Amino acid sequence: MIKKVPVENLRVGVFLEKIDQSWFATPFLFTKFKVTTEKQIQKLKDYGIQEVYIDTEKGLDVPDSVEAAEVKKEKCDIQYTELPIRKLVADTIIPFNLYIKKDNDYVPYLRQGLPFHSRVQFELESNKIHSVYVDSRYMPLFEKYEKDTRVERELSRKGLAPGFETQEKVERYNNYLNNYMPVDRNVFFPGMETPVSLYKENDTEVSLVLEKGKSIPENEIFSKGAKANSKINLLIHVLENEAYRNFLKELSAGKISGDAEEVAKIRAVVVKENSKLVTKDLLDNPRSGEAVKEAKNAVGDIIQAVLTNPSSFYGLMKINTYDYYTYVHSVNVCTLSIGLAMAMNLDKTQLSDLAVGSLMHDIGKSLVPSHLINKPGKLTDVEFVQVKNHVNFGLEVLKSNTDISKNAIIPLVQHHEKLNGMGYPNKLVGDQVHMYGRISSIVDVYDALTTERSYKKAFKPFEAVSLLGKNKDEFDAEIFRIFVQMLGKQALG
Ligand SMILES: [Fe+2]
Ligand SMILES: [Fe+2]
Repeated sequence: MIKKVPVENLRVGVFLEKIDQSWFATPFLFTKFKVTTEKQIQKLKDYGIQEVYIDTEKGLDVPDSVEAAEVKKEKCDIQYTELPIRKLVADTIIPFNLYIKKDNDYVPYLRQGLPFHSRVQFELESNKIHSVYVDSRYMPLFEKYEKDTRVERELSRKGLAPGFETQEKVERYNNYLNNYMPVDRNVFFPGMETPVSLYKENDTEVSLVLEKGKSIPENEIFSKGAKANSKINLLIHVLENEAYRNFLKELSAGKISGDAEEVAKIRAVVVKENSKLVTKDLLDNPRSGEAVKEAKNAVGDIIQAVLTNPSSFYGLMKINTYDYYTYVHSVNVCTLSIGLAMAMNLDKTQLSDLAVGSLMHDIGKSLVPSHLINKPGKLTDVEFVQVKNHVNFGLEVLKSNTDISKNAIIPLVQHHEKLNGMGYPNKLVGDQVHMYGRISSIVDVYDALTTERSYKKAFKPFEAVSLLGKNKDEFDAEIFRIFVQMLGKQALG
């Protein structure tokens, strides 16, 4: 018998038939499967899934609570209250479910407990949606939310964000972003001497973790098991970038110990770390032909690493908790695009053009004042226009570069276009958006939603795809399906 049960009641041994679809427009992320570990149940909880359907003939039976039929009936009785979007504050957690109206139906949009990410706000506004709806029974929660977010609301009106109320704090934040670079812990092993000083950050205050030349200890930051779980972002000072680059070179030339899969994974991380350095150089010197060549080589290395050992790819695209750096975002978008291109069976030339273009898609941001790119608060309309200009700036920089093929510029030019014509800069519609544009627009928003910033909570992967799935007319449905499938391969592994 198929029955609906709360995730709370799940036990190892149940057979998962499907998840409750009302909040997730993308159930194909999950194939039917038997739950074999507690971790899988935890993952469902982490993704905010509250109810699932199980098949009691294929697996264990567990108590249910609400019958599906009752839920349906209850749904029809719900009254909704309209809420203008301006009443919500960007980047605050919304304590009630938000719905949008589509063809006289109320469609779940943002699940209670998720952040009203500025990108979510932008998506709604750019689709000319100015109101959301709340189950009227929860309006008292809205009143409480209004009270609780009084301070954030006031700050946001002034273009500021909590924790960044003064110019001094904003400057400190900018200094930290400009002077330190996040590095991946997986290239440091207990027992080795660290080739660079390592730092961590807390509330834009940077502190030393380990001085250059000291031995890497076996602790909650560096030991094997801890690496995957700990949320500390390890940083190096940009003055030591060269030393770090040399260290990576030595590491890739030398012997890495571990089983074959581990070695491949570390090699892939080294490639990714190197791409970050190269991309940072490129963004610092966007017109340098040499930097463009280096970046192209780095992309070749990532592709090579993934082609040689496809499983290493999942290590590369694991979600990071880094603050926002254009070069990290660029490498993420490049890596995810490569994975997606491979899942779509694109040929080698396509793969390469798409990957090079994805790495460089935001190169124009280097010509937008960095205090706007890093601004902790909401951008004013004028500032937003300036930031949007990064597309044209990027085109200007790359169009005369003979090392970049015409097709490789497409991700740059089209990554903010949407199939429904609501994108920018050219408001392209449907077929006018090239396949590379369709790919990079999905990957770009996904990475933005899943990247945490000092003042901004991030979405978990599944929450992000779920939200993207609700903006169906913006994205290519088939490419989106393959993208979700690709993410899903690692989601419940
Ligand atoms: Fe962009
Ligand atoms: Fe981007």
